[in-house]
Amino acid sequence: MTIRTELTELMERKGYSQTQVARAVGKSVAVINQYLQDKYAGDVKSIDQLVSGFIAREAEKEKSQRITARYIQTVTSRKGMEVLKLAHLDGEINVINGDAGLGKTMILREYAAQNKDAILIEADPGYTARVVLEELCNRLGLSKRGNMHELSEACISALRDSGRLLMVDEAENLPYRALETLRRIHDKAGIGVVLAGMPRLIINLKGKRGEYKQLYSRVGLALSIGDALPQEDITAIACSMLQDAQNEDVSDALFRASHGNARRLFKLVRGVSRYSSINGQAVSAGAVRKFSEMLIN
Ligand SMILES: Nc1ncnc2c1ncn2[C@@H]1O[C@H](COP(=O)(O)OP(=O)(O)OP(=O)(O)O)[C@@H](O)[C@H]1O
Ligand SMILES: [Mg+2]
Repeated sequence: MTIRTELTELMERKGYSQTQVARAVGKSVAVINQYLQDKYAGDVKSIDQLVSGFIAREAEKEKSQRITARYIQTVTSRKGMEVLKLAHLDGEINVINGDAGLGKTMILREYAAQNKDAILIEADPGYTARVVLEELCNRLGLSKRGNMHELSEACISALRDSGRLLMVDEAENLPYRALETLRRIHDKAGIGVVLAGMPRLIINLKGKRGEYKQLYSRVGLALSIGDALPQEDITAIACSMLQDAQNEDVSDALFRASHGNARRLFKLVRGVSRYSSINGQAVSAGAVRKFSEMLIN
């Protein structure tokens, strides 16, 4: 196939106009038009070169776009879903904690997608008790006017015996008063609450000197993901993103280079698959190791 026909096919497949191609290769529309009709009187070779660069970049883009972070069921994510379901059904306060990049948010989002009555709030460092209540009012379609007590009462009466689940992600950012506010909503409305966050969430719940017994004693189940995922999980996620991860050498290299961290794995897979598609090769264990040297920590 000539480069010219490859370009014609790409344009048909992607719906690209001659103007778009001209812009991408830095030539005028007239030149591209003549080139496509095989009527270009100038240096066809140099246009071929520009066009094949464009085709390669497009292929690369397509390949890296195919690598997406889609929820995959793993040993850990299944446990996480179970902890959410139990909090939901039993109206308990449960906790999921683990290091950054191990899939806590993925689990909560998947649960929210599957259960429309679950409410997911993502906390950030600015979250005070008031902000948590306002956010909850937002989700419940309630007015945010009034003092803290009034907001809390409004949320409680909207949630009472509703059987809903309240999930708070990045809950390690919540100050004690915000955690207490959630506990009160749980107690009074009888709904399940799940707090997910980094390991210091547990310290926040207990109090540095164990002074928050009242809060921590309410916690039913606590799933601790720790600081790394098992190889089985990493391999399952890797195989879902990358065909070549079926190869044992490649999946071993990915596990090792990922340090058991799913976020790091994602960056690795995206990086090596882009690299290998540029070179038209399958992903190898060596390429994984080489790429991992470029990743931070
Ligand atoms: N179950 C899963 N299926 C597929 N990909 C996953 C899964 N869990 C984690 N990942 C990958 O790892 C990345 C990080 O996951 P996630 O954002 O859920 O981590 P986190 O534990 O919430 O981290 P942080 O504490 O930094 O918020 C995801 O974007 C995704 O690429
Ligand atoms: Mg997260």
